[in-house]
Amino acid sequence: MRKKLISRVNCLTLVAYLLVLCTFVVGRKLSEIGNDDTVIGHGYKVTHAQIDNSTKTLTAYLQVIQNSSVYGDDIQSLNLTASFEEDDRLRIRITDAINSRWEIPDEIVPRPPPPSFSNLNDNPPSENQTTVLTTKNSSLIFTLLHTTPFGFTVTNSSNGDILFNATADPNDPNTTLIFKDQYLQLYSTLPANRSHMYGLGEHTKPTFQLTPNQVLTMWNADIPSANKDLNLYGSHPFYMDVRSGPINGTTHGVLLLNSNGMDVEYTGDRITYKVIGGIIDLYIFGGPTPVKVMDQYTKLIGRPASMPYWSFGFHQCRYGYKNVSELEYVVDNYAKAKIPLDVMWTDIDYMDAYKDFTLDPVNFPLDKMQQFVNNLHNNGQRYVPIVDPGISTNSSYDTFSRGIKDDIFIKNHNGSEYLGSVWPGPVYFPDFLNPAAQNYWTDEIKRFRDDLKFDGLWIDMNEAANFITSQPLENSTLDDPPYKINDGGGRQPILSRTIPGSALHYGNVTEYNVHNLFGHLEARATHEALVNVTNKRPFVLSRSTFVGSGKYAAHWTGDNAARWDDLAYSIPSMLNSGLFGLPMVGADICGFMDNTNEELCRRWIQVGAFYPFARNHANKGSTYHELYVWDSVAESARKVLGLRYRLLPYLYTLMYESHLTGTPIARPLFFSFPEDVETYGISSQFLLGNGVMVSPVLQAGAESVTAYFPQGNWFDLFNYTNFVTASTGASVTLSAPADHINVHIREGNILAMQGEAMTTRAARNTSFNLLVVMSNSSASTGDVFMDNGVEIHIAGAIGTWTWVKFQGELGSSNVTITSNVTHGGYAKSQNYIIDKITILGLTKGVKSTSSIIRHRSRTVNSNGLAIKTNDNEGNFVVSEIANLKLSMWENFKLELKFD
Ligand code: GLC
Repeated sequence: MRKKLISRVNCLTLVAYLLVLCTFVVGRKLSEIGNDDTVIGHGYKVTHAQIDNSTKTLTAYLQVIQNSSVYGDDIQSLNLTASFEEDDRLRIRITDAINSRWEIPDEIVPRPPPPSFSNLNDNPPSENQTTVLTTKNSSLIFTLLHTTPFGFTVTNSSNGDILFNATADPNDPNTTLIFKDQYLQLYSTLPANRSHMYGLGEHTKPTFQLTPNQVLTMWNADIPSANKDLNLYGSHPFYMDVRSGPINGTTHGVLLLNSNGMDVEYTGDRITYKVIGGIIDLYIFGGPTPVKVMDQYTKLIGRPASMPYWSFGFHQCRYGYKNVSELEYVVDNYAKAKIPLDVMWTDIDYMDAYKDFTLDPVNFPLDKMQQFVNNLHNNGQRYVPIVDPGISTNSSYDTFSRGIKDDIFIKNHNGSEYLGSVWPGPVYFPDFLNPAAQNYWTDEIKRFRDDLKFDGLWIDMNEAANFITSQPLENSTLDDPPYKINDGGGRQPILSRTIPGSALHYGNVTEYNVHNLFGHLEARATHEALVNVTNKRPFVLSRSTFVGSGKYAAHWTGDNAARWDDLAYSIPSMLNSGLFGLPMVGADICGFMDNTNEELCRRWIQVGAFYPFARNHANKGSTYHELYVWDSVAESARKVLGLRYRLLPYLYTLMYESHLTGTPIARPLFFSFPEDVETYGISSQFLLGNGVMVSPVLQAGAESVTAYFPQGNWFDLFNYTNFVTASTGASVTLSAPADHINVHIREGNILAMQGEAMTTRAARNTSFNLLVVMSNSSASTGDVFMDNGVEIHIAGAIGTWTWVKFQGELGSSNVTITSNVTHGGYAKSQNYIIDKITILGLTKGVKSTSSIIRHRSRTVNSNGLAIKTNDNEGNFVVSEIANLKLSMWENFKLELKFD
């Protein structure tokens, strides 16, 4: 058998060689050529393949066709498994058949174990045969092609569309797979005119949809997000592909689960992964809608963490606040200007010589800070300080001494601690891969919180950022790998301003392999510590993230600049974060670097008020830009934050939905309108949930905005009598005077809103107003989730939460509005009342001779309901039914007859 195999391989090798020669004549793609212009691989040939229907697995054995030594030697034989972990989730795993390789430990991204690679039958495939794997209910089909070189496809089983196409193209016979120790390459061809690609971050991009001909590098770096098209703080090798035709909007997702540095080249008709380590572990999510892809993706990587209610309030931060008095001054000025403020932050300024878990004894002394935080708490406000991972090596610093004692720092290859430099000067970095680091970190956080009752933590500089670039170890391909990813746009050794690849973690794991996991692991450790220390739902804001970090942390987009472009790019960045399972996201409002100006800051708070995470932040030395600084900014802030605070129950419910299903809070328009191809290219508008659409001004001097409205009636949330009717999708120019942002709600939606207030705590004590937007074509729906906002396990014990679903139906002579309560206990304990129902989308008014039917057959005659109908404006009337006193904890049915 073995002999037969070898002679067969030799013969194929010859064929492959001729093919490769041909390639030289036909001309080669840049993506297939090494730096020195040599062919870097010749691909693999399937020598065995078999299917095990009981485990829904295909197993194959691959043999290299011909060696190439560019970027290192080829790995000679590989195992390939394709398996359906779920009907809509196909996993394709390719790794060295003989030696085990680095792959993300299950403990870090928990997932089903890969199928075991059992002994294969003596079953060599014949040339051009295929082996096909699918299951009865699967939306996907995996096909292995026994060509030379081998290839595979993943097809949508319902329409035959090829979703992932890693097959040799006869006109461009490059290899489909290259597999070396420090260089893996795999590509898929794409139908350029039908495939709309999103994701593959973290990068700052002018557009949300990826544009062809770019390299997307993933290597976590302290590169300010003010830079376009460079690798930034996080790595998310995940994309969503929305196809136009055969059925518009059919969507799938693809994750390459790999923590090593990589370049992903996207040309429009091809996506090529070039990865410097690990294995090919590819997951295809069958969709077929964007919402379903997010559900399938976050089912694998982890659902986004639930966030505390208060974190949906407005946050104020600045690098450079001088002392406690200044903090107090800022908080006072928000109150004076009557602008809501929920959370006050301190940057590294509060620390003693930038040492974590210490306070500057002169400017931020403990007693004054305690007083300050107490005052915040008494006022229903919160406090979040920053923590950086680098621990100062100052020998009199206890946090450092304890770290040495616990032996939890990252090491050099020779066993000494790796010495970096960050804000405090020389630092060691905790090794969050070391199980002992968790106790250390929890203990440090506990000690600090025993002194100062902070409410959440901001973890920064965790790429990890380093102010020095160490010399590469001589001949170390860990510090200077043969293939240079485009880190920082420089194709340089990958140790620039971070921990070198040759540094060692617990268990002799190299930094080379786990670099992209540092922030993720710190977020996990911090989340865990806060659960322990506070016994409340944690709030962690992390700059660096990886696949699955949404389970632990919120995210901000990092160091943007106070420029109009940065305001515009904040929308694609926020939408990307949502795709990555990090729905709690926002950009630094008014711009971090440089000096902002009144108009930019005003337009920025108008957008930022609708970021899921809304924080104003500024760099040290830049001019102050708290929202009260300019009158016009303050005025607009009151208006837009007023709406945000009224929408808090909605935002919080969207957070809960995200936590259950992964659907982002802020969404691209195509999430609600996947069949509308016009929505695919939109980067300047977004949705909150299903049907609230934000269409901001993003240019200096503009007093109007041209916005796209998908089909339907859309009502202005600032003035219900204004509406836009789009009988098919339409671009509409809207007036947007200085203080105004356009926010619309679409027919078919119901919002449970509360009143305006200066804090989330106060807003939660106001009664509810149900906004019901009727539709001719379908019932209207909405829901609200309520709990105390800080329970660790959201929707845990009965009595701690209430979930109410609303439905509105339009009959020929009446309107019916009903509620359906799950576990009313919590709402009852809070005495939550719906005081008013506002109905939009009706063409005639309703009258008051209606009845309210509550559950348990209690009927309340509602003659005399205070119904006010405004039918002066255009086609639609606004009906308000006030003084209702409907209890949130009981099902109700409200029937209103037309005049
Ligand atoms: C980093 C952070 C920024 C912070 C600064 C000082 O640049 O991204 O938000 O203000 O460090 O800590």
